[in-house]
Amino acid sequence: MLYKKSIPQIIQEARESGEHTLKRTLTSTGLISLGVGAIIGAGLFSLTGIAAAENAGPAVIISFIVAALACSFAGLCYAEFASMIPVAGSAYTYSYATMGEFMAWIIGWDLVLEYALASATVAVSWSQYFNQLLMTFGMSIPDNFLKGPWEGGIVNVPAIIIVCLLSLLLMRGTKESSTVNNILVILKVSVVLIFIALGWSFIDSANHDPFIPANTGEEMVKSGEMGLWAFLKSEHFGEFGISGILRAAGVLFFAFIGFDAVSTAAQEAKNPQKGMPIGIIGSLVICTILYVLFAYVMTGLENYKVFAGDAKPVATAFAKTGYTFLNTALIITIIAGYTSVILVMLLGQSRVFYSMSKDGLLPKIFSDLSKNQTPWKTNLIFMVFVSIFAGFVPVSDLGHMVSIGTLFAFALVCIGVLVLRKSSPDIERPFKTPFVPVIPILGVIVCVVLMASLPIESWERLGIWLLLGLVIYIFYSKKHSKIRQQAQNKGEQNV
Ligand code: ALA
Repeated sequence: MLYKKSIPQIIQEARESGEHTLKRTLTSTGLISLGVGAIIGAGLFSLTGIAAAENAGPAVIISFIVAALACSFAGLCYAEFASMIPVAGSAYTYSYATMGEFMAWIIGWDLVLEYALASATVAVSWSQYFNQLLMTFGMSIPDNFLKGPWEGGIVNVPAIIIVCLLSLLLMRGTKESSTVNNILVILKVSVVLIFIALGWSFIDSANHDPFIPANTGEEMVKSGEMGLWAFLKSEHFGEFGISGILRAAGVLFFAFIGFDAVSTAAQEAKNPQKGMPIGIIGSLVICTILYVLFAYVMTGLENYKVFAGDAKPVATAFAKTGYTFLNTALIITIIAGYTSVILVMLLGQSRVFYSMSKDGLLPKIFSDLSKNQTPWKTNLIFMVFVSIFAGFVPVSDLGHMVSIGTLFAFALVCIGVLVLRKSSPDIERPFKTPFVPVIPILGVIVCVVLMASLPIESWERLGIWLLLGLVIYIFYSKKHSKIRQQAQNKGEQNV
């Protein structure tokens, strides 16, 4: 279980695959665009309003900064790995080099929760906006075909259609997908900038007052009426005040998921040593700035209470500007934004399974390339898998699974940096995580705290998913692992 791959071996293997490998087509700008493409989506356009109304009020702005800080710890660790081991597979490949085959398998398996389920989650939100767009033209999709069976419908048809269309695009080629992604990113960044610019002069400062709405429980702790422990367990925790800012940061973590998807495309980057850190950190910084400004304008346009239970808070806030004729354009660009998230997440997923299959941990079908050098069979298999989730599972369950799976992967990447600094201190690191061990340790702590704030069912589902992974590992992956076979062959020769 502790078989490890050396870093030079990983890089060598990727180089030797010749035409059976992915093409290096992505520039640094393309990588930043890929990051922004995966990051800005349902988190910003749907969750900002909910987090403001239920948890933080206007201080949702601070929550965005807290969530960004938490992600930046893991982001810096990802950047070190991605520049050092520039091959597809992301956290999976890094774990293979640091913690051995079993942990690598667990991570690779866990990443399905992040990439495949994030694309399903966003596809579900996509279908809501799509329906809204149809409504502006006097049409609509019947509820039965817009919602899954647990939400009173039969199947979410638009969510399945968008997953299928984007999977087909990915099969065509990474370059084509990247071009489409660039267009979608330009559209969605424009809508964020337009929202900020047009909304700015309509901000009513009364809406920002009080900036941090009071929390009854926190007041009671201060006056000695309630103990701290009792407060932590009470329903007051997270309802505004400081605890509300933290709870909102946990919710808004979803809005930052995706920057790590840049690292799955490392093998397709033209200059990964430079491009990876730029892509990961750059997209994180750009999105943080946009998020903070967006939240400031949104909570300035309307009182935060108005956003309670509102599925389209952006439109509600925008109505205050008087530019309502832009509403349809706004919806279209939000749909474009969601589309790029689904696209990049699907891309990330196929690249992780590509790497696992190359190592023998998954059947060869997952690394078969088309003549356009895309892992098209993986795309096809995940098209079916993601469609099932997008079509039938409720969005909140999906969202929690994505968060817990991602946090788990982030924590292991942070630990990986610590392990590799100890075991291979001299290896060339084009980008070094600053303040090691402080940053990776803070990264692990933050991830564990955020995981602890998620509902118990998410933990149970994570456990079941990992158990299923364990069974596949024991009965398939262990037996077919290439590195294990190489090690055994070497052992026999030595005898
Ligand atoms: N960060 C992505 C979103 O908010 C997953 O949609």
